[in-house]
Parts: sequence; C-alpha cells; structure tokens
Amino acid sequence: VVRMSDDPKKMEFTRSVLFDFHGVQMTKYFTENWEKIQNFQARPDDILIATYPKAGTTWVSVILDLLYFGKTAPERHTSIPIYERVPFLEITFPSMDSGVDLAENLATTPRLIKTHLPIQFVPKSFWEQNCKIVYVARNIKDNVVSYYHFGRMNSLQPEPGDWSTFLHDFMEGKMVFGSWYDHVNGWWEKRQTYSKLHYMFFEDMIEDCGREIDRLCSFLGLSPSAEEKEKVTTGSKFDNMKQNKMANYSTVQVMNHKVSPFMRKGKVGDWKNHFTVAQNEKLDEDYKQKMKNATLKFRTEV
Ligand code: A3P
Repeated sequence: VVRMSDDPKKMEFTRSVLFDFHGVQMTKYFTENWEKIQNFQARPDDILIATYPKAGTTWVSVILDLLYFGKTAPERHTSIPIYERVPFLEITFPSMDSGVDLAENLATTPRLIKTHLPIQFVPKSFWEQNCKIVYVARNIKDNVVSYYHFGRMNSLQPEPGDWSTFLHDFMEGKMVFGSWYDHVNGWWEKRQTYSKLHYMFFEDMIEDCGREIDRLCSFLGLSPSAEEKEKVTTGSKFDNMKQNKMANYSTVQVMNHKVSPFMRKGKVGDWKNHFTVAQNEKLDEDYKQKMKNATLKFRTEV
C-alpha cells in the first residue's frame, strides 16, 4: 500500500482534469470508485463532516477528533495524520487505500468521516442511518481565494491558471465538487427535512471558537469539562495546527507547502488582498443573481 506520505515519484499522479459528472464538475480522484462510495455502509453513530473544499474542513475535523478522543487517546493528535483520523470518503488514489477503505477500517467509535460531496451525491446509508452531520460553510470570497492557493500547491488539483482565470472558473462552477453556490445552498436546504444536520460558518468560528464548540457539543450531546474543552480550543488554534505535522498536511507529498502552505492564513477578509475593484463588483453581481432566491444568509461584513 502506498500512503499519502510516500515519495511522489512512487505515486503515479498527474494533475487532474475536470469533467461533467452527473451535472457536477469532478475529477477522477473522486469518482473512480463511485459504486463503492455510493454503497458505503454508514453506522448510526458515524459522524459526517461535510464542506465545500477550503471552508474549514480540517479545523472542524481536529475539533471533533479532540472532542471525542482527546481524553481517552490524546496521543492521536500528535501521532496520526488528520487524513487518517478522519478519512476523506470519496478519495481514490492509485495503489493507495481509498477513503472508503480507510473509513471501513476505522477502529474508533464514533467514526469521523469527511466529505466534499454535494448533497445529492451523499451515500444513502448516511440518511438511512440518521447520522449526525456537521456542515461548515465559508464566505464566498475567502473560500475562492483559499481554493486558488490550494490549487497551486496541490498537484492533484486541476491546473488553477492565474487568479483572474480561476475566479472566472469558480463563478461558473468549474471547480472540483462543482459550484460553491449549489453546494452551500443544497446543504442548507437539507436542514428543512433532516434535523441531524448542524450548519456552521467559518466566520463564526473565527469570531468565537469557544462558543461554536459549545454549540457543536450541544448538537452532539457532549458535555466536556472545562479542562477538556480548553484542550480542544488550544489544540485547534490556527498556530498550533500549523505547527502540528499531524494536522498541517506537511506529510502529504503531493502538496508543495513552499508554493503555499496548507495552513496558509486562517483569516477572514484575505480576499481584499486578491480581488481588484472590478473583480469584486463582478462577484457581487454574480452573488446577487445566484443567491437571490436563497434562504441562506452569510454575514455581509467580510
Ligand atoms: P486559508 O487558505 O484562507 O488560510 P480546508 O481544511 O477545508 O481545506 O480549509 C483550509 C482553510 O482553513 C485554510 O484557509 C486554512 O488556513 C484554514 N484553517 C485551517 N485550520 C484553521 C484554524 N484552526 N483556524 C483558522 N483557519 C484555519
């Protein structure tokens, strides 16, 4: 078995190419094992962490891992990479354990599982088993900036092109996992019929992570002691995650952190350092159009 931490020369990877997959732009790394993904057997106590890429997946994964296992198995946080503690369900990579394999082999209870799938692609057993799901959304402007830098540093992503091309493609939904708009709205709408979905915002976590952890705990039915909660808050701080090799993806060879570190800035409002005035106006217009019937409301003061 080849691991993500192995020498990239051993891995036959190439930058992927987008194609239309049942109406969503996807790449081979997330579709090749489709039947196996769709037939994944969730258990009632599984917890699914769902996000559009770059919305704060790793942050909330670390929080959940620490909440559940920080007390009984604190060594996990500094000895097992986050992508093994919380497998990425739909990833399939040549000669490597697929996300489904990793998830199936998880010995922990609950199993924490990550996905970027848009709502309509989620394996049906998660709904049948009535699993708890945590969704994190991030404001569109910082989300696209973060996705752009990720495309530059991760050789599994399609060529991002320059910033203005990337931004244009993003507005058209020509991104892996499709349109940001469809993703955040699709998951938001699901709350109307599915009560075990906790919808969070990156900006709220930045504003007051302790409060968001409390909300998460009441959703999950957890009541950590003050000391346990403190460990979660500390372990999931940006600077600590950036230093922690088991959380910062530095062991993943397909990522070039010299181009852009995975733990890049961790801020709200970095889009202001990227958007021109014209690009900002264009995105505002696009946003107004595409969100005009949406019940989902983001903060405006980003
Ligand atoms: P930036 O590129 O804006 O810095 P994902 O885990 O979904 O891929 O999201 C990655 C983004 O979340 C990156 O955003 C990363 O820096 C940010 N992030 C990760 N951990 C964080 C933390 N503890 N606090 C704040 N931001 C965090």
